[in-house]
Amino acid sequence: MTDSSEHEAKLTQTLERLHAADDLDTLEAIRVEALGKQGWLNALMKTLGKMSPEERQTEGPRLQGMRARVADAIEDRKAVLEAAALEAKLATEILDLTLPAPQAPQGSVHPVSQVMDEIAEIFADLGFAVATGPEIEDEWHNFSALNMAETHPARAEHDTFYFHDRDADDHRMLLRTHTSPVQIRTMKGLSANKGEPVRIIAPGRVYRSDSDATHTPMFHQVEGLAIDRDIHLGHLKWTLETFFKALFERDDIVLRLRPSYFPFTEPSVEFDVGYSNEGGRRVVGGHGDAEGHDWMELGGSGMVNRRVLEHAGYDPDEWQGFAFGLGIDRLAMLKYGMNDLRAFFDGDGRWLSHYGFSPFDQPTLSGGVGARA
Ligand code: FA5
Repeated sequence: MTDSSEHEAKLTQTLERLHAADDLDTLEAIRVEALGKQGWLNALMKTLGKMSPEERQTEGPRLQGMRARVADAIEDRKAVLEAAALEAKLATEILDLTLPAPQAPQGSVHPVSQVMDEIAEIFADLGFAVATGPEIEDEWHNFSALNMAETHPARAEHDTFYFHDRDADDHRMLLRTHTSPVQIRTMKGLSANKGEPVRIIAPGRVYRSDSDATHTPMFHQVEGLAIDRDIHLGHLKWTLETFFKALFERDDIVLRLRPSYFPFTEPSVEFDVGYSNEGGRRVVGGHGDAEGHDWMELGGSGMVNRRVLEHAGYDPDEWQGFAFGLGIDRLAMLKYGMNDLRAFFDGDGRWLSHYGFSPFDQPTLSGGVGARA
């Protein structure tokens, strides 16, 4: 047998084996046997270097041709095997389009935002608009205009967060300690037209240097202000009572007004609601003096002090009204049974998914202001 017929026989055998290979590993093994470093066809190619130029002229193309046929056969078989593998995968993989799509993670509404929306909804029904003011205030709006003396303890550095900056009138700048400056800003905005009746609430963040289970350095208040020519304390009591009944969605809310002192109201009253303890949870309702009940303070209020009306450009001989301020966080705790105020602002996603509310469950008077669990 001549060399070339020997080579042809080896080539035919390799091509047959390639054709019969039924997986990619076998294919690779045959490739290495023929074209690998130690492969027989590779060894033959190396002999070309030792040949005479004449010999190389005939042997070169013959051996190159053999190598090309092996390489082509490998590629062809590889394509067939890969197509078959894909076929098999598609045949065994089942895609059920009727299965429900996986749930995308859904955000929730923070309890404070929820209660703020509930408050705005209830007061809108009573004819109160929502007013806003800056959280970075000057001491005139936050204290002086509200008749708080230079020596008032709330002005002290250890209660109030001050900035180094002062405004154009040389007033110190601070983080507002309550929502009451919005009273001044709202009335000043209206008094340019010699005053008009006012019915606003002003919900928002306030800041005090305070921290324990029932106090946080940042918390939320809602201010209420009603100014007209004949408003009296009876209107205040009715408004607060109506509001709490709507918020807590119960008719047995009992409100207690206690004489108090705020520089910006005269007379001043603090208001408490009666509650009972049920399984370690405070439940609003009933008379605070009844068996198993107690009172909880929710905020301060009173008739707007004459000096405050004057500072805001309203003539106190013509106008009068009531104002109140209450802590929203405490209302949220009471309504939804949370016990530590600090957890509200820890940013713990688990707490939020436990207490948070659905963004689709908007408080409305017709659908109910309370969030459904
Ligand atoms: C005021 O801030 C007055 N501006 C309220 C007011 C407005 C009186 C209008 C009269 C007329 P006081 O400091 O009591 O008052 O705060 C009101 C409510 O805010 C408190 O009853 C309480 O519910 C809440 N509160 C006060 N401090 C904190 C705190 N650190 N953390 C959470 N809630 C607080």
